Formats: sequence, structure tokens, C-alpha cells
Amino acid sequence: MAQSIIEVRDLTKTFGDKTVVDQLNMTIEEGQLYGFLGPNGSGKTTAIRMMCGLVPLTSGRGTCLGFDIATQAPKIKPLLGYMTQHFSLYRDLTVRENLQFVCKLYGIKDVAGRVTELVKQFAFDNEGRDNQRVGTMSGGWKQRLALACAMAHRPRILLLDEPTAGVDPKAREAFWDILQDIASTGVSVLVSTHYMDEAMRSNRIAYVLYGRLLVDDAPEKVLAAAPLVAAQVPLQEVFRHPHLAHDPRIVRLSQQGNSIRVVARSHEDIGSWVHDLAQHGLHAGTPVDIDVGLEDVFFYLTLQQQGSITQF
Ligand SMILES: Nc1ncnc2c1ncn2[C@@H]1O[C@H](COP(=O)(O)OP(=O)(O)OP(=O)(O)O)[C@@H](O)[C@H]1O
Ligand SMILES: [Mg+2]
Repeated sequence: MAQSIIEVRDLTKTFGDKTVVDQLNMTIEEGQLYGFLGPNGSGKTTAIRMMCGLVPLTSGRGTCLGFDIATQAPKIKPLLGYMTQHFSLYRDLTVRENLQFVCKLYGIKDVAGRVTELVKQFAFDNEGRDNQRVGTMSGGWKQRLALACAMAHRPRILLLDEPTAGVDPKAREAFWDILQDIASTGVSVLVSTHYMDEAMRSNRIAYVLYGRLLVDDAPEKVLAAAPLVAAQVPLQEVFRHPHLAHDPRIVRLSQQGNSIRVVARSHEDIGSWVHDLAQHGLHAGTPVDIDVGLEDVFFYLTLQQQGSITQF
């Protein structure tokens, strides 16, 4: 059994009369790459900060690295690497100078040695980026530097709050290659994201909706358990007929080029819906089965929570 690094029970946070984290239970193990998902305002940032003692609890309890999150926060803090949602770097300093600054802040003894290691580990030495001013770098390289800063003091846990927001796909992929490397050394990584490809690369994912944990499992298991099917149907004009598009058999509809992508609970539902379209003079091509994605599952769960299983 892997050692649990974070364990929280019934974690709850209220601001005034608003409950933003609602009886959250989570366990994060050593070396685990944990994806944290949920719509804007669902409490991801608040929950991440609570789990490490950075935000006081309204109720509930938990431990982080064996320390009580309610009473021993000062012991936890030096063991964390935290990349905040709106982190800032010194734009007028170079990569090396930023790293030196952070290493000094953490009281690292051999600053020069540690900076050299970080420059290598994060590949800033390629093309001389280590001496580039941060203000002139692309978004992807800035995020990478922020990650290097969070790793400067060799933390055992990394908390990354939407570290790849607004970063292009290639840079996001490279960023996740590094995260997987870091996790393979035993560091636990809790990372919030809105990107499904990143969720798929996590060992485990949690999905929160307005403070409540709706999913907590390995991504492949979440997909395997999804009570959904998807199909591509060659058809264009269905959205011009809202009474046909708004149908209880259909969970999710989207136009994709010259076809529509349909998510439903069964192939029979899709088949009978397509048959009904034909009755109304809308002739679709034959549905082709396609994969259900995590986004479909989260979409479905969100609709269920809202007491409806239709899209509209
Ligand atoms: N200090 C605070 N005082 C009052 N309300 C707060 C405070 N911090 C957060 N909230 C509220 O708590 C809710 C959850 O916010 P939080 O930032 O944790 O969500 P999030 O899932 O991280 O959202 P996003 O995806 O936009 O980053 C929001 O409604 C937010 O307005
Ligand atoms: Mg947030």
C-alpha cells in the first residue's frame, strides 16, 4: 500500500451562508498525480489550499504529511511546492535570476548548485533560455519556470492551481511530461485543470461541482463506468429544429463540421431519435459509434445534479 500524503475527511468551508467546499473526503498517495476538475467557482482553489492548511477549515479534519491541517500548518508549509492560479515571476529578471531569488527565499545553502540542477532538469539550458529575461518568454516557458520555482526546495507535495491555463497544446504536453517525471520520484502532485487530455494523464481524478465531490477514481475507470454512449451522425440542420434537438433521449448534442456528435444513455435511444428525425423530414446518415469522453461524463453528472438529464 502506498503511503497517504494527504487525507481529509468531511472538509467543509463556508463563506457567510455559502458552502463552497461541502464535506469533501479525499486521500492522496505518495507519487500520485491527482487531477482536480470542476466548473469555475466550484471550490477547487479553496479545497486545495485547505488540504495543506493554507485556508482555515469551517469543519472537518485532515492530515498532510502526517501533520494536522487545522493545527500544524506552519510545519506543513515548508514541505509544499505551491504554484498559485495567478502566480507571478520577475519579468525583468532572467530565468537564472528568478531561480536564484526563490532559492535564497527558501534558505537553500548551495544556491548556485541548486539553480544549475533546476536549469538542467527543466531544460532551460537548451538554446540559452537560462539567461533570457522572463518578460520575453512564451507563456509555456513562463509556466515551466513557475514550476521550477515551486520545486526549488524539493517539496514532497506539489499543489498546482491551473498551471497550464492558456498554454498551447504542445507546451502543455511538455509540462505534463515533466509532471509525470516528478511524480515518478515519489512527489505527490495535486493539479487543477479544465483540460480533459490532462485529466486523462492523471493517475486519479476528482471532479467537484459546487463544493461537492462527484467523481473520485482513475480516469479509465470513470470512463468504463460511464452510463453513456456516443455517436457521430451525418446531419447538419437539427439545430434549426429546437423541438427535435431538445429531446429527453439525448444527453448532449454538438455540431462538428458536417456531422453532429450525440451523447445518450443507449444506442437504442440514438437510433429511435434518428428514426423520429426522419419522420419529421430530417434525413440523417447512419450513426457511427465514437468514444465517450470525460467531458461527457462530467456534463452528464452536472445535468443530473441540476435535476435534469436533457441538455436544454
Ligand atoms: N475569501 C473568500 N471570501 C468569500 N468567498 C470566497 C472566498 N474565496 C472563494 N470564495 C468563493 O468560493 C467559491 C469557490 O471559489 P474557488 O476559487 O475555490 O473556486 P475554483 O473552483 O477554484 O474556481 P476557478 O475555476 O474559477 O478557479 C466561489 O464562489 C468564490 O467566489
Ligand atoms: Mg481556482
